Amino acid sequence: MTTIDLPLLPLGKGRDLTSERGVECPGDLPAASDPDLVARARAAKEALGERVFVLGHHYQRDEVIEFADVTGDSFKLARDAAGRPDAEFIVFCGVHFMAESADILTADSQKVILPDLAAGCSMADMARLGQVEDAWDAMADAGVQDSIVPVTYMNSSADIKAFCGRNGGVVCTSSNADAALEWAFEQKPDAKILFFPDQHLGRNTAVLKMGLSLDDCVVWDPLQPGGGLTAEELQSARMILWKGHCSVHGRFSPDVIDELRAKHEDIHILVHPECTHEVVLKADLVGSTEFIIKTIEAAEPGTTWAIGTELNLVKRLADAHPDKNIVFLDRNVCYCSTMNRIDLPHFVWAMESLVAGQVVNQITVDDETERHALVALQRMLDLPGKSHRD
Ligand code: 13P
Ligand code: SF4
Repeated sequence: MTTIDLPLLPLGKGRDLTSERGVECPGDLPAASDPDLVARARAAKEALGERVFVLGHHYQRDEVIEFADVTGDSFKLARDAAGRPDAEFIVFCGVHFMAESADILTADSQKVILPDLAAGCSMADMARLGQVEDAWDAMADAGVQDSIVPVTYMNSSADIKAFCGRNGGVVCTSSNADAALEWAFEQKPDAKILFFPDQHLGRNTAVLKMGLSLDDCVVWDPLQPGGGLTAEELQSARMILWKGHCSVHGRFSPDVIDELRAKHEDIHILVHPECTHEVVLKADLVGSTEFIIKTIEAAEPGTTWAIGTELNLVKRLADAHPDKNIVFLDRNVCYCSTMNRIDLPHFVWAMESLVAGQVVNQITVDDETERHALVALQRMLDLPGKSHRD
């Protein structure tokens, strides 16, 4: 038998920082096999008391959710973070863009911590500020820039949110994308929306909630000269969709829905609006993670559901509702790999560091970016009564 001597690099030891962004943890990351991890997390949380507020996104692992003071989708967590001005530390168990938004919405004295800096979002990474600025210039050349209202999904970096704030735009989440589009179309008589980074959320909302047609939508490809669009195409479009997507929600397919419906005639298909338009068209219900949870909570015992969103959440819903039949809408296991970066070892490491007086993995947005991003976030928070919690 041949053995291959692979250099297994323990995460957090920072052996090859150029190949993997942000995995360095100064100090010692506890071993995942440490049997005391749960007790250590509890002890650290108890020691920090009211000084710490732990937020957990619905896609987080069970082992982490157990320690969250509140759970929620990205919209609810942004509001929850803003609602705890007394907490010195906000430990954000979610991904980088969510922690940035929490930093923007909280006081300067509050410190936002992301337990693993490698918890990014591949969709958010698909729209870089330089690319967006190039697109903006190209839209000026095509004579359409003056009519454009930029709308960015919460799943975007702080500098993209700031771009929207500077240019009369707004942030939205999957809970309030329809209210944000309605607001944006009201801003100018001949308004067009530049929507980024998720083409699917943009298209699904425009067509299914705002009554636009697929022909009103064009896709801007940041990797093509001029976005791959002609000036005429830009001029006649009402929705300019950035060519970005979620690699997790992009996996769900209409074929699986057909198969499931053929096997279970009473099945309900419930999906997140980041799924493709073809999937959403075949679904019974579409909505944010909070909507998905509420729908299952309200469902009759004995009903059957296939859910198209991240697997940690689907598994938790299935466990919490044994009286309902809940299945995952994909043949294969698929977690969001970056959400999963936050595990118990990283959580314990971040919390114990705080107990020891060392603030690790702090997420800070610079003042100038924060000022403009806050404008776009505040416009979102002020949208009239359209959020799932209002
Ligand atoms: P929510 O806005 O529903 O929390 O979704 C966030 C996310 O990352 C979905 O992929
Ligand atoms: Fe980003 Fe998709 Fe993961 Fe959400 S599920 S954090 S959009 S990669």
